[in-house]
Amino acid sequence: MNHNIAVIPGDGIGPEVMQATLNVLECAVKNTDVRLHFSHYLAGGCAIDKTGTPLPEETLSAAKESDAVLLGAVGGDQWDSLPSGMRPENALLNLRAGLGLFANLRPAVLHKELAAACPLRPELTANGLDIIVIRELTGGIYFGKKERGDTWAYDTMYYSEEEVRRIAHVAMKTAMQRKKTLVSVDKANVLESSRLWRSVVSDVAQQYPEVALSHMYVDNASMQLVRNPAQFDVIVTENMFGDILSDEAAMITGSIGMLPSASLGEGTLGMYEPVHGSAPDIAGQGLANPLATILSGAMMMRYSLGHEAIAEKIEVAVSRALESGARTKDIAIAGEATLSTTQMANKVIEYLEV
Ligand code: IPM
Ligand code: MG
Repeated sequence: MNHNIAVIPGDGIGPEVMQATLNVLECAVKNTDVRLHFSHYLAGGCAIDKTGTPLPEETLSAAKESDAVLLGAVGGDQWDSLPSGMRPENALLNLRAGLGLFANLRPAVLHKELAAACPLRPELTANGLDIIVIRELTGGIYFGKKERGDTWAYDTMYYSEEEVRRIAHVAMKTAMQRKKTLVSVDKANVLESSRLWRSVVSDVAQQYPEVALSHMYVDNASMQLVRNPAQFDVIVTENMFGDILSDEAAMITGSIGMLPSASLGEGTLGMYEPVHGSAPDIAGQGLANPLATILSGAMMMRYSLGHEAIAEKIEVAVSRALESGARTKDIAIAGEATLSTTQMANKVIEYLEV
């Protein structure tokens, strides 16, 4: 089975964690009939420097024709003063919109080996944490009409019924595969778009009678996430609320450097990237934790390429590496020996091979 993967290493630590991930993926498919063909493309700051635009046409069309896109990270201080539309982040936004990737899955899992890194009181996470935030990714205030005048500016949080409906189905299906509970987060006490959101999600829920749906205001949800995170299993929310809540959910696991993500559309094409950013301060030093990108590669195997067994094999190898005490600097506690990016990937490869 042949799969064409568009590889977009990007900026900062992106290229390092990507190379580590490609090595792991190559190893994971060894001795199977799966062949991964990696083609590299530019996006983000490096694309601005080389081509004058954050998302070259060649990259977008290659991504569209691929079976899956694997992305490292984009951005860095040197591009921060560029005008809107020309910033590295636009590469991400235009890939999401251009590929129709409206559903963003962000698992926030507290790996039991890393419990000490969790910033919450231990009793709050005694039974671990396993939350998935499902973020609507191509609508809302990110993509609504916006304008800037001399002394004013506005952005619009626009949603159509159809945009809410399709993400609600993704959330319900995810809930069905997990604990059959779903919390939909909105600001329906204030925002009209949230009142639409709430009524459409409730309507879709009728088709999934086994799923217990509840609604929560976003301010309360952000408080509940630190007060009692174990109450959550699947959370679904609009684009900007999801941006904020997924960072919060990631941080309470204490391992933002560990978390993968998948962005999906109607078909099997998806984009996979770590939740963390390009971390320019540690770029090029071999310090970055490659596990979030490696786990994103596992999600790619599962959701776009249909190789569940290989996905699980990678996830088990990552857990074993952590159990064996393998730590990069970001997840080590004071005094623990640490591994470089490549050494961590090699640890995972070791456990893939046994
Ligand atoms: C994310 C990031 C992006 C977003 C930025 C870099 C545009 O914060 O993927 O969460 O806001 O969606
Ligand atoms: Mg974000």
